[in-house]
Amino acid sequence: MRTMKHLLSLEALSGTEMREILNRVPAFKNHRGRHDRPLAGQTWALIFSKSSTRTRVSFEVGLRELGAEVLFLNAGDIQLGRGEPIRDTARVLGRMIHGAVIRTFAQQDVEDFARFSGIPTVNALTDAEHPCQILTDIFTFEEQRGQSIEGKVVTFVGDGACNVPASWIWAAARLGFELRIAAPKAYQPEAELLRRAGGSIVCTEDLDAAATDADVLYTDVWVSMGKEAEGAQRLKDLAGYRINEALVRRAKPGALVMHCLPAYRGKEITEETLEAHADTIFREAENRLHTQKAIVDWMVR
Ligand code: CP
Ligand code: NVA
Repeated sequence: MRTMKHLLSLEALSGTEMREILNRVPAFKNHRGRHDRPLAGQTWALIFSKSSTRTRVSFEVGLRELGAEVLFLNAGDIQLGRGEPIRDTARVLGRMIHGAVIRTFAQQDVEDFARFSGIPTVNALTDAEHPCQILTDIFTFEEQRGQSIEGKVVTFVGDGACNVPASWIWAAARLGFELRIAAPKAYQPEAELLRRAGGSIVCTEDLDAAATDADVLYTDVWVSMGKEAEGAQRLKDLAGYRINEALVRRAKPGALVMHCLPAYRGKEITEETLEAHADTIFREAENRLHTQKAIVDWMVR
């Protein structure tokens, strides 16, 4: 019997499975509008408890291009927002729809949704991980460089304890590249996560050393969704952990500067550096569409 596939985290994927997904992306990117529609006749729901531009639009468009009808459910508009348990929501939707894409706070909620709904479920960002983003970033690096990420050096700058670097940690451990996380001590990933992942992960407060000879400089917002109350403190604590032109000069010549977006100019990245690398950064945003179609195709076939 075929087991149902979900994409709940990169922690749950092997390197081989990541490669199976990544290998499908060019077919969707190069044959947009001409590929198969494996979701024809299906209805998928997006259930979002947090804001989104890229993830929402790329999934809505991508699922339609795969043949599905799509419902966007703002968690605040459905009974989930009034306290109905996720497992009951899952049991109801699992009887009506064919797949779900969920953006929320607790990782356990997407795990529970997958378990109780019995339908293919995608993590579209939790506090713990952002797996669709990092698969897209790896595709974008390899597309732009024409080389595998294996053996390369990715330097993450900023809040090293949030969802985006956590997914980078699992990708590095499974795909065999070096990840350096430059962040103040209090914003470095938990030791337990690093132990569990293994791989070649270096955490340091020394930003200049972390950037030296890197193939990629990567950043994310200093204040993730749900952390707004800590906003002022975070801006102070992270003020030294910004990508600017001086930092780019430390990296390998031709290094890529990447950002998952949204970007806050003058905070985690300067205006000048963001604009100098806008081709890569907005290609990365576009690739969400193609990569997520490959993810869903891999899940349902
Ligand atoms: N990068 C990303 O997930 O963007 P959104 O929050 O706009 O979806
Ligand atoms: N770490 C950010 C990612 C946004 C795409 C957040 O969780 O808000």
